This record gives sequence, structure tokens and C-alpha cells, in this order.
Amino acid sequence: MSSRFHPDNDETINPSGNASIRDVMAEFKGRRHFLKGSLGMATVATLGGFGVEARAYAGSPSPGGGGITFAGVAPNLAATFVDAVSVPTGYTAKTLIGWGDAIGVFGPSATTSHDHSDPLPISAARQSTTFGQHNDGMHFFPFPSVGIKGESSDRGLLVVNHEYVDPGLHANTATYGTITMTKALVDAQVAAHGVSVIEVRRQGGTWGVVRPSAFARRITGATPMRISGAAAGAEALKTAADPTGTSVLGTLNNCAHGFTPWGTYLTCEENWNGYFGAVGSFTATPAERRYGLSAGGFGYRWHEADNRFNLNAPGNRNEPNRFGWVVEIDPFNPTAMPVKRTGLGRIKHESCAFAVAADGTICFYTGDDERNDYMYKFVCAGKFNPRNRGANRDLLDNGTLYVAKFNSDGTGTWLPLVFGEGALTPANGFTSQADVLIRTRQAADRVGATMMDRPEWVAVHPTTREVYLTLTNNNRRGSSPPSSNNPDGSTTAGSARPPVDAANPRNDNRYGHIIRWTETGNDPAATTFAWDIFVECGDRLNPAANLKGNIVGDDLGAPDGLWFDKDGRLWIQTDQQGDGLGDWINIGGNAMFAADPATRRITRFLTSPRNCEVTGVVSTPDGKTMFVGIQHPGEDWAPGAYTARSTWPDSGVNGPTTQTSVSKPRSAVVVITKDDGGVIGT
Ligand code: FEO
Ligand code: CA
Ligand code: CA
Repeated sequence: MSSRFHPDNDETINPSGNASIRDVMAEFKGRRHFLKGSLGMATVATLGGFGVEARAYAGSPSPGGGGITFAGVAPNLAATFVDAVSVPTGYTAKTLIGWGDAIGVFGPSATTSHDHSDPLPISAARQSTTFGQHNDGMHFFPFPSVGIKGESSDRGLLVVNHEYVDPGLHANTATYGTITMTKALVDAQVAAHGVSVIEVRRQGGTWGVVRPSAFARRITGATPMRISGAAAGAEALKTAADPTGTSVLGTLNNCAHGFTPWGTYLTCEENWNGYFGAVGSFTATPAERRYGLSAGGFGYRWHEADNRFNLNAPGNRNEPNRFGWVVEIDPFNPTAMPVKRTGLGRIKHESCAFAVAADGTICFYTGDDERNDYMYKFVCAGKFNPRNRGANRDLLDNGTLYVAKFNSDGTGTWLPLVFGEGALTPANGFTSQADVLIRTRQAADRVGATMMDRPEWVAVHPTTREVYLTLTNNNRRGSSPPSSNNPDGSTTAGSARPPVDAANPRNDNRYGHIIRWTETGNDPAATTFAWDIFVECGDRLNPAANLKGNIVGDDLGAPDGLWFDKDGRLWIQTDQQGDGLGDWINIGGNAMFAADPATRRITRFLTSPRNCEVTGVVSTPDGKTMFVGIQHPGEDWAPGAYTARSTWPDSGVNGPTTQTSVSKPRSAVVVITKDDGGVIGT
């Protein structure tokens, strides 16, 4: 959005199920005295025989695919703006947890919340036991139960990304750019990133966070992680702090997410480049330029107080190469080390969604969210084994990474990014598969992939396996050839102005579109596909003919979050700048919509507080509880001015969470239920 800190708008993890569940059991045995109010032993006992892998993909959706029968809500228009989450009549939205609230780790801070009137910043220690800032993608991992498919819809783990911090909000100063940076301030901001694992439970009809919980965990920008896959141990991943190139501290800019059918969570590192800077003179290499590294970064200034973020610190130049990956986390094993899976490439990963065939053939789709960047898929060499969780432990380490080429005739090709094949040869400067993966963008430039209008989330239909991708917007198309910007022939995103093409048909694509495709033979491993455009977003009151869009139903723009529920409703979340001013005449502020893939009808389900983005959505297995993320309400908040921007969620109809003091707007997760207990969307 407008914030420079949020450029968007513009085991080891040990996923071995057996070991993991054993670990969890051991954990519980050691903490039996804490079990009151947490997971009961009877439930624990069932974990041993619980096929975690039986969840997730194995749904049997209701027929019809649509089933959207709620009466849509009106747009939240600028003139009458409401600083709240609004949902259809018959639905209720309540805040579950927000920035700074305790996540429920054992210890003195298990139940005490951050007092939101406290002086800022939250210390790193405190932030490490409380909900991070600016939540984004999330997934619900149900506990076992006697319910649908043996999955509980009343209790589970909600795993939530924290994309970025707003330093002004975090440090409680409007003069962030000139204050003296300290290591303590860097540490606090680093700790506000990453992932929260919280246990959530419905009791007496009300959802809450279980505090304390044996599963509660913060993974931050400082949590030790293992690097695996073909790039692990490469020279370009070695630093003075890690001469092995296999061990890294933390994950950053955790935008959207994914999960695996074997019950692990995937967190995606998006705009990680912005945290790095250089003390002293700095000249970027072509590879660094291709990923947007610069002397000043986004203005976080971390490099001034922490050499890990200083590109000029001795032995530290490769530290940025250790970001830009998909990270796998086992939410059921609180002691498991997260793993950066290099096989999926190093880009600005938005999200990561899988498709799996009946025979276990499985692929993961992931987009690179930058103007004129690419869409990728990783096909695992091995097959998903639904009967042996441990057999899937390293599926993400071996396979083939492809990048998409969308042909003008509605067909498409997946181009392999394999060292030695095609243009990815020593003659063109590539030295190994590790090199191809670390410089994924340049490899994709070389093979002739299609430059897209900012790939955001991917969603795979639960039964047809049709793939949908949001392309949020692009104001950089024109006539500059999409090559040869750099001496090595790679393209610098943001400098090329490629012409429009069939898959990205609008020169001024300020409202974005949604594209979809089906793999040939419906095979996740296919190297060809057929595509069409699901919708061109727009505002029918915009005077420009090419900006009205072709929407059936409610107008929307800047589609970003995208998710299919079990019945095949497509949920679309938006991330436009501001509150429905300017060109957002008929659209209003950011919102969430439900779409029917068959009829293409789009209906507005939720409108949001002031100056926020709606991002993150998932339901319980029965579809009757939905969790939705509200990010950066009151963006560009400044001390003394925030009440003019937003006071959500601590005042108003959706809050408070655990605090009653209205001090500042906070990103938070809301829980949505239907008053008659029905499925969300009906
Ligand atoms: Fe963080 Fe591209 O959204
Ligand atoms: Ca976005
Ligand atoms: Ca996004």
C-alpha cells in the first residue's frame, strides 16, 4: 500500500508423523500438570493413532460447487465509511486475537496480554510470546475428533503469518527515519515477524485462544532454521556466521502461506529484500539488483544496528541469499526446527498451494509477486503417501521447478528450471542447480517465461483441481522489451515495460484480474496446460471503458487473497490502497467476496476497517467457522493522528480482544460464524 514498509500495493522440521506425534506425546507427559485448560489426556491418546495426513486434501466436497446464498453486503464507501468488519445479516464477526495479545506459551506470560497502552516498542522477549504484527496467510489444523472425517471443528491449531512491521507504529514514533537505531529495537521488530501457532477452541458457542497451550509457539525472524534441498550448503549460502550454508536465523516477510497434505505448514518469504541495507558505499550485482537489494532497503534501518542486515559487514554479503524461500513448519511438534526448502526456488513467494492426484503425484504452485514477474510450480519427484506421514518428510527436497509460459492461444507450457537444460548452461553463466535455484528469477528470465501482472495467491479447486491465480495489478506495461536490462541479460523487475499479452491484456491494469488453468490430463506433473481469464476486475462507474471490468456481480479491484472452501466456493480478498477513494467509486474499501467458479458470479461477503487489507482466510472442516485476517488497519498511523485513521479492533462492534484500552489500531484475526450454525457462504 502507500507505506514504503508494505510495498505490496505496489527437523529439523521433522515432519515425520511418527516422530512428531511421539514428540508431542512426550511433551504432554512432561507437562501433565498444565493440562487443565489445555488438551485433555483423552484427546492426547487419540493423537497416536490419528492420521494427520488424512486431513487436508482428502475432502469430499458437497456437490454443486457454488452454494452461495447469503445476501451480499454493501460496499464500504468513502463518504459513509465504517471502521469495522461488516458481514451479511445472520452472520457475526468477532475479534479472536490481535497484535501483542498473548499466544499462550507456558510460563509467566501464558495468560497476560500486552497492555496496548504500554509504551512501545514491545520488547523482543515480550513479542516472542505474543501475537506478531500484521497477520497475513493462515491455516487451521484440526485436532482429531469423532466428527467429520475424524477432524474437530471445535478445536485445532491456527497457524498465522506475520508479514511485516510498521516501524512507526511499532516504535511509537513518527520520526522513525531519524531516531538512533538500537539492537534492541531491531530485535523487537525481528520478533514481530514470522509465524504464530495458537490453539483455538470453541466452548459454549464462543471461540477463544487456549492459554496456556503446549502447542503455542512463535517462530520469528530470529528462530534457527535448517536449509535443505539442492541449494543447501552452496557457496552462495555461506556466511561468516554460518560457514556451512545450511543454517539460518529466521524467516521474514511471511506473506501468504500453504500447507501440505501430510499436515505441515508452509510460510512464504516475500519482500525480504527490504530489510537489508549497507553501511557505506554499495554497488549491487546483477543478481542483487534483480531481487531489489539496495543500500537503503525499505527504510527499516536494521543494518545500522545489526550486522546481519548490513550487506557490507565482513562475511555477510550472502545473507540475503538465505531468504526468499518457502519454509516448512510442523505445527504439531513445537520443538521441530523449521526447514527452508530450496527446491521451490528463491523468489518473492506470495503463497504455495498444492494439487495432488489419486496416485500421489503432487505439485506446489507458487507465484513471485512483483510487477512483470513469474508463476512457478514444483513437481515432487516422489509421491505423496497418505498412509505413512514420515515417508513424505523430504518430498519438497527432490523434484523439478518449472516456470509458466502462457501462450496466446489459451495453452501454456511449464518450462523446466534445470541446470544444463536449455539456456541454463555454463555458457550463460549458470554453474549448478544450486545456482539456478538461488538465482531463480534470472533462470526464469533466460527460459522465456511470461511476465505477469503480479502473481499473488493461488487456489486449487477441491475436486476439479482447476488452479486459480490472482494478478493484483500492474502499472508497468508498455513497449520496452522484457530483456537485456542487465549486463547478464536478466531483467530488472520494475524497469522493463513489456507489452500486454493474452494472459495480461490490460496496459493499465489498476484493478487486476484472476486467471485460471487446468493441467493437461489433469495431471499435477503435466508440462502443458489450458488457461482462461476468470474475471477482469474493475469499477463499472469508472469512465474508462477498459477499466470497467467484466464482473458478474459486485465490483472489486486488486484481488490478492484467494482460497477454495471444501464446497468449491472461491473466496477473494482485496488489497487496494485506501478507503475507496479515487477510482474505487463503486468498489469502496477493501473487502472479501465469494465467487462461484461455474457461473462466475461474485458476491461481497465482508467489508473492512479503515486503511486495512483483508488477507488470510480459512475455515474449520465443517465449514461453519471462518477465520479472516485484517491487516494494517489505520495504515500510516502516526501518534496523535490514529483516531482519525482507525481505532479497530479495540473499539467498535468486533472488539476488543483481551484489552479494553483503545490505544492504537492493530492487525487482528476475526472469527466469523453464522447465527443459525450453518456453513459460511450459505
Ligand atoms: Fe504480501 Fe504480495 O502480498
Ligand atoms: Ca497485495
Ligand atoms: Ca498478498
